[in-house]
Amino acid sequence: MCGIVGYIGDKDAQGYLMTALHRLEYRGYDSAGIVTIDDGTPTVHRAKGKVAELEALTNENPAKGPLGIGHTRWATHGVPSETNAHPQKAGDIYLVHNGIIENYRDLKAELKDHTFVSETDTEVLAALIDSFYDEETSLADAVIQALQIAVGTYGIAVASARNPDEIVAARLGSPLIVGLSEGETYIASDASALVGYTDQAVYLKDGEVVVCRRDGIEVFDLASRPVSPRVETIEADLQSIQKQGYDHFLLKEIIEQPQTLRSTLNGRVDVADNLIKLGGLNMTDDELRGIEHVTIIGCGTAYYAGQLASYYLEQIVDGLTIDVAIASELRYRSFHLPKNTVALVVSQSGETADTLACLREIKKRGVKTLGIINAVGSTIAREVDGGIYVHAGPEISVASTKAFTSQVSAMIMFGITLAQARGINNEDISNYIRELDQLPGEIERVITNYQNEIPSIAKKYESYDHALFFGRDTLYPVALEGALKLKEISYIQAEGYAAGELKHGPIALIDDSFFEVALLLDNWLFDKTLSSLSEVNARGGHIFAITNSKQNIDAETVLHVDTNLHVLAPLVLNVVQQLFAYHIAVARGNDVDQPRNLAKSVTVE
Ligand code: G6P
Repeated sequence: MCGIVGYIGDKDAQGYLMTALHRLEYRGYDSAGIVTIDDGTPTVHRAKGKVAELEALTNENPAKGPLGIGHTRWATHGVPSETNAHPQKAGDIYLVHNGIIENYRDLKAELKDHTFVSETDTEVLAALIDSFYDEETSLADAVIQALQIAVGTYGIAVASARNPDEIVAARLGSPLIVGLSEGETYIASDASALVGYTDQAVYLKDGEVVVCRRDGIEVFDLASRPVSPRVETIEADLQSIQKQGYDHFLLKEIIEQPQTLRSTLNGRVDVADNLIKLGGLNMTDDELRGIEHVTIIGCGTAYYAGQLASYYLEQIVDGLTIDVAIASELRYRSFHLPKNTVALVVSQSGETADTLACLREIKKRGVKTLGIINAVGSTIAREVDGGIYVHAGPEISVASTKAFTSQVSAMIMFGITLAQARGINNEDISNYIRELDQLPGEIERVITNYQNEIPSIAKKYESYDHALFFGRDTLYPVALEGALKLKEISYIQAEGYAAGELKHGPIALIDDSFFEVALLLDNWLFDKTLSSLSEVNARGGHIFAITNSKQNIDAETVLHVDTNLHVLAPLVLNVVQQLFAYHIAVARGNDVDQPRNLAKSVTVE
């Protein structure tokens, strides 16, 4: 949430800042700004709206100077406006900030020397830093003194016209990375902003402050004690963060699922030996055997991935109990976890604030935690005891697609690993291993076979105001995810329901402003779901049925998805839903990759 960038080096900072802001725009896009400092003279550009608006200003009136910081915002305090955009200024201080300063009201009341012009908590932090920044105090010391008083979360970068040789940055609860190169130092809240500039990076830890200079960095803790930074190599490449000819990142990310899923499965699924091999769990076979309960946590799509995985885990491991919780709920509950629990912490970004806080709550209870994470090196990935990187590559579009498929597959592999440790190796397990192996190819086939048909189905439903998705068993979480995808990018009000629950409420909603997406699997529940369709039809429903069954289905539109898969067919049907939501959003003329009001990485609670 919010993108932060910074540069100090031998070139004009503006070029890097604008490229990097474009790359981080998915983190928030209601306003943006930069400040550059040229020989003690600051130039500020800020604009309401997307980075392109800011770019129009910087193109018209380029800013000089080899030092600068920039920001793309997702509003928390104060409406999106130029005045509330960052950088926020107070005295000699320019500040860009991601996070929330919780005690900003108290601080504001005490900072009487500053006249506040914005509604932001960020301006309060800028004024606090400025109040300490005098002839005797360095920029870093002023920042540290202010952060000792500020309560809340932050990733910040601070510049001052009085100090043209340094940018000071710090983090507590919001990610921040420093990129190192010969004669240049970069700051970014996400590694994708560094790709192509440098692959040498220091991931700041909570409570660390970094002084960035042209020739390197110094890191301190909040008590001003020096800390030795660990330099790591970033592995992403430029191609993976580009659209590569697709109209939208979302379409690219849906279509590339066969490849990204192969990266999730490679080296882990061994069909020949009927085995799953996971490194990284950091658990012995004895420990794996001892697990009796699995708690899965996540937010948004990651939560639904957890829900779907829970159906699979209980099928795969006899006797295992499972619960799935929304991280923003569980973290505040007086929850108790049974003995011999392992927690699966699911997150694409590895930075979601509620998921991270929940992980810490779980760790406090002495429970082993495993991450199901996409972003390598992210905060959650660093704090869990072990885990499975899903290796789906950078996911840029705000709506999550390829991460879902890979997260569910990773959790299925975890389930099989638990079964293997218990010595269970039956036909069901072999079947899961076989289907996991075939899944990328089956997704590929479905995309090829139906990508021309789905846009015309989408056209049929594009102007409805409401949608109801329903399915049973594994297709219930898929229905929830389908509804989430549609609402996120099309703004059609959409709900997901368990098919058996329709008559307990939602069926009352059905009228001509609604259409329904019915999900059916060719299994023992087929006829039961068919009854739900009949009930909806009897009330004048407009059903779009998606199924792997070849049987006749009474619905306004039916897509018979030809797939060889059975247990994993829900993941294939989900890809159809993803394409359906995408084409509806395109038909409605929406900004598919950056839907209104949303952000990709939600680093505030
Ligand atoms: C935001 C994104 C969703 C995502 C959720 C959880 O709401 O828009 O696409 O599913 O956060 O994110 P995470 O990075 O933890 O998976």
